[in-house]
Amino acid sequence: MISFGIHQIGEVKIDEDACYIEIHEPYTLGLRHIEKFGHIIVLWWISKRDNPKDRATMLVTPPRLSEPVETGVFSSRSPSRPNPIGLTKVKLLKVEKNTLFVDRIDALDGTPVLDLKPYLPGDSVPLNDIKLPGWFESLRDK
Ligand SMILES: C[S@@+](CC[C@H](N)C(=O)[O-])C[C@H]1O[C@@H](n2cnc3c(N)ncnc32)[C@H](O)[C@@H]1O
Repeated sequence: MISFGIHQIGEVKIDEDACYIEIHEPYTLGLRHIEKFGHIIVLWWISKRDNPKDRATMLVTPPRLSEPVETGVFSSRSPSRPNPIGLTKVKLLKVEKNTLFVDRIDALDGTPVLDLKPYLPGDSVPLNDIKLPGWFESLRDK
């Protein structure tokens, strides 16, 4: 099995007033023109699940289902997974130097950020074309 190297480029910050991403030197030059995009995809490290047990998780039971269903980790958004990579699409509110203010993110304060990518029209799938298992149907309203 091959291992790959990943470098932290920044950190999620959440306080009472705002939710933002701070990008570290030497990556700030890479932010040029990012403010021209309305949404970005944030890839982050699910740092508190980076341990052998969570990385060995293959079956999970997604929370908040009316009927519990055990499903494969790759059919879920579980934070316990072999490579603890989180992915969140966020609305970019404003950019101030190396700080990106976003509407929300489901990463905890202090979470390492791995990469940012602009959200492009080709990334979206028309709602009617999205196929979901029955237990996720309630997510259509969210
Ligand atoms: C269900 S995961 C989904 C993450 C991402 N939206 C995805 O699809 O990859 C989101 C949950 O991970 C947990 N979480 C967020 N940041 C974390 C961190 N740094 N370490 C461990 N768990 C974290 C929080 O409980 C959060 O509600």
